Amino acid sequence: MAKTIVSMLNVDKWYGENHIVKNMNLDISEGEFLTLLGPSGCGKTTMLRMVSGFEQPSAGTIKVENESVEKKEPYQRNVNTVFQNYALFPNMNVYDNVAYGLKIKKVPKAEIKKRVTEMLKLVQLEGFEKRRISQMSGGQKQRIALARALINHPKVLLLDEPLGALDLKLRKQMQIELKQLQKRLGITFVYVTHDQEEALTMSDRIAIINEGVMEQIDTPKNIYEHPKTRFVAEFIGESNIFDTVVKNILEDKVELAIAEGHIAVPRGEYTVGEKVTVSVRPEVMSFSRERISGFSVKGVVKDIIYVGNFVKMIVEMSNGQEIKITRFDSMELSDLGDVVYLNWPLEKGVVIRMEDSFEDTV
Ligand SMILES: Nc1ncnc2c1ncn2[C@@H]1O[C@H](COP(=O)(O)OP(=O)(O)OP(=O)(O)O)[C@@H](O)[C@H]1O
Ligand SMILES: [Mg+2]
Repeated sequence: MAKTIVSMLNVDKWYGENHIVKNMNLDISEGEFLTLLGPSGCGKTTMLRMVSGFEQPSAGTIKVENESVEKKEPYQRNVNTVFQNYALFPNMNVYDNVAYGLKIKKVPKAEIKKRVTEMLKLVQLEGFEKRRISQMSGGQKQRIALARALINHPKVLLLDEPLGALDLKLRKQMQIELKQLQKRLGITFVYVTHDQEEALTMSDRIAIINEGVMEQIDTPKNIYEHPKTRFVAEFIGESNIFDTVVKNILEDKVELAIAEGHIAVPRGEYTVGEKVTVSVRPEVMSFSRERISGFSVKGVVKDIIYVGNFVKMIVEMSNGQEIKITRFDSMELSDLGDVVYLNWPLEKGVVIRMEDSFEDTV
């Protein structure tokens, strides 16, 4: 296991009456690409600002390289930030923007020249030294902001939605470039986005934040396949969520009652009458004209939606809950108005943390 480079220990942040970050505990490893992912206003930027030193925690400790940074000014921390709006100097040229941090530190001119040249090469902007910022495209500005942050050779780079302003195509291209750059330089990235696809493709680990609380921290694959809470299941990708009650404990499986009938999960620690929430991804859902043993989920095909690279079928159960099923080819779906029975491989039903209780609907 790589050593921890940034950690938050029981960190709380209050703005007046508002509890923004709640008892946050987080360890980030050296060289890791860690993404903070969550809805707007959940506290992502606030977390970055506390690590960078532009904001102080109300309680708890933040450590960089195993040392509390409480008393350190932003420039004394081995951390740099790429802000969402780039925060470049519009009237300076590209060279001066990238050189800025070194000039402040009074690094000798020749050394500055060498390092700026090296950085512009790294972000593929050689030859643009004299251009004004106002004459650069969005993607180019993004790369200048990156060069300006990297030139200080930070151990940790904090990036706050750095690709937010770019169009989809450029964004996808920059995602790959950024990820490659990060691996090549071996710098720890703490990356903020609210784009789940971006988080899944770029990160070593993702921390899912909801109203200042860390819901889950894990690899993209585990976050997607084994969401621990209802929030994570619904926030990452699409999910069909069943609120159920344990009905029967059988030899090889457990039957769970839903409004419609019942579903099943593999054997485990359950007691009859207990509430259990199950999440099933749309792509693992199957359907048939006949009832499948172990499942009793009947519905009517209500809608078929073309989404480009896949098609989505909406099946409405008698209680009004809509179930989503996705396929790559519409030939694999049923027709509007058909009555279908739903099922899935037992192990694909993810049982969500039991404390996540729900209202009685069953
Ligand atoms: N300086 C401040 N004073 C008071 N409240 C603030 C301050 N900065 C942020 N907040 C509040 O803290 C909460 C979290 O803000 P934050 O900027 O961390 O969210 P975020 O997760 O980065 O959201 P987004 O995805 O929209 O950027 C919000 O409710 C915001 O209004
Ligand atoms: Mg933000």
